[in-house]
Formats: sequence, structure tokens, C-alpha cells
Amino acid sequence: MRLVSATITQNTEIMPKIRLLGLLAPDIAGEVRPGQFIMVNCGEQRVLPRPISIHGTTAAGEVLLLVNIVGKGTEWLAQRQEGDSLQVIGPSGNGFTVSSGAKNLLLVAGGIGIAPLAFLTQQAASTKAVTLLMGATTASLLYPQDRLPQNIHIVRTTDDGSAGHRGLVTGVMPEYLNAADQVFACGPLPMYRSIESLARSTGKAQLVQVSLEVRMGCGIGTCYGCSIRTLQGMKKVCKDGPVFSLPDIVLDEVRV
Ligand SMILES: Cc1cc2nc3c(=O)[nH]c(=O)nc-3n(C[C@H](O)[C@H](O)[C@H](O)COP(=O)(O)OP(=O)(O)OC[C@H]3O[C@@H](n4cnc5c(N)ncnc54)[C@H](O)[C@@H]3O)c2cc1C
Ligand code: FES
Repeated sequence: MRLVSATITQNTEIMPKIRLLGLLAPDIAGEVRPGQFIMVNCGEQRVLPRPISIHGTTAAGEVLLLVNIVGKGTEWLAQRQEGDSLQVIGPSGNGFTVSSGAKNLLLVAGGIGIAPLAFLTQQAASTKAVTLLMGATTASLLYPQDRLPQNIHIVRTTDDGSAGHRGLVTGVMPEYLNAADQVFACGPLPMYRSIESLARSTGKAQLVQVSLEVRMGCGIGTCYGCSIRTLQGMKKVCKDGPVFSLPDIVLDEVRV
């Protein structure tokens, strides 16, 4: 983990209120794994840095971020221009663990949860069969398919039926769960509850890893602000996570 002053290389709106940012940070790009994140200083000193997942890397040494504008920190980020500098710390956290023996990977993305999973598709698509289930509330908020590898199988859902299958992304999961050797998910907590019950009923719960996007303070393991209860005791999401084996998490006690 390192503190880096990174130059912004791009900042484009690719969906309503969701921006793709590129940062020139070759040291981070060279070592980061899918599921890891960086802490981004968002303006004033009194605003705590914000955790943002790595969304991808480029051969030019960029790290890509997908930023959903929800409050003052992400609003500030959205207004940065190409050429501006950002102070970032990372890469942080553990990332997803893909088993060498796994052939079929099932990825389940709810909303902005596509951010770290797109990076996983970037790395896994050349050696594994990847199925990505991608859900959003409506068509305009579905991540653009042409930004994903061509050789993966993509299934899209929208809550309002404006694109893909109508309904929640977990609604199409039963069809794909049996063939999966591992499952990787990122999205809201209710999605994890549904995945847990589906995976338990098919004996696959141990194969599911999820990224927990809880609120963070320091992001470097010193404040205990991100602690959650697991079957192995209390864990810090910023150091021990953000990726956890789903059945290990005491979901009812997680607060976002
Ligand atoms: C490991 C990790 C990875 C993340 N990756 C991404 C990413 O790739 N892209 C992205 O856009 N966001 C990501 N987030 C969420 C992001 O950190 C928050 O949205 C951000 O900190 C909000 O800051 P803000 O100042 O804009 O909003 P605030 O003013 O702090 O809050 C505005 C609203 O957003 C809600 N909120 C704040 N933090 C979170 C959170 N962690 N999860 C859900 N709701 C929250 C608040 O409850 C409030 O309603 C990630 C979070 C974690 C922990
Ligand atoms: S955010 Fe401070 S310990 Fe995790």
C-alpha cells in the first residue's frame, strides 16, 4: 500500500451520475488485484478519504474508477478535470481469490457493484469461462456491454423491464448456479441475503465471495470504524476484506 499523487487522465460520464475516471498511477496499476480498492482524498482535509474499487487497469499504467455520485465526496471527484492531481492510498484490501482449478466463474453485479467485477472479467476472461449477471434499476443504468470482454456470457436484468430480463438480478441466478465452480458478487446487502439463501439451498454457499461496501473511516486499519462480525470473530473490512466468504459474514449485523 502506498500514498500516490495521481494525475487524472480521463473523467467521463458513462451513465447518469456515474463517471469513469482514469488516474495515472503505474505503481498501483502494476500490483493491484480485482476486488482491491484505493482510498481517495476528496477535497478538503476534514472530509475523510473515500474508498473506491479498482475498476480496471490499462497498459499505460492507469487505474480506472467507476464513481457513483451520491454525496459531497463523490460530487467533488466528479468535478475534477483531466490533468488535476488526486492523493490516493492503495492498493488496499484483499481482493477476490480465484481458484486455479475453477473453470466456470459466475459473477453477480447489482448496480454500481459492477465496478470491481468488471476488473475481474478483464483478468479472468482469458483463462476461465465467465458468466456475468448484471442488474440495474433501469436500462440507462446498465453498464455498457461494449466495455466488457467479448468472450464472456452476459445476462442483463432491470427492475423495470426496460432492458434484459425484468426483475432483480438474483431472479436469473438459479439457472446459472449449478454450473458455477465459484461465485463472486458485489451489490447491496439485500442482494447478498438472496444469494445466500439460493446458494445454501444448492449447497454452494462456501463457493461465494462478496465484496462488502460498508462505510469506512481511515481505510487503513486503525480506527475500527469498518468492523463487522464474522464466524471467525470481528474483522475489519478495510484490512481483512472487503472480500469475504459469504457464509462467514453475520449479515444481519452489517451496517452500511
Ligand atoms: C471497499 C469499497 C469499495 C467501494 N467502491 C466503490 C466504487 O467503485 N464506486 C463507487 O461509486 N462507490 C464505491 N464505494 C462506495 C463509496 O465509498 C461511497 O459511495 C462514498 O464513500 C460516498 O461518499 P460521499 O462523500 O460522496 O457521500 P456521503 O456524503 O458520505 O454519503 C452520501 C450517501 O451515500 C451513502 N453512502 C456512503 N458511503 C456508502 C457506502 N460505502 N455504501 C453505500 N452507501 C454509502 C450514505 O449513507 C449517504 O446516504 C465503495 C465502498 C467501499 C467500502
Ligand atoms: S476504516 Fe478504519 S479500521 Fe477500517
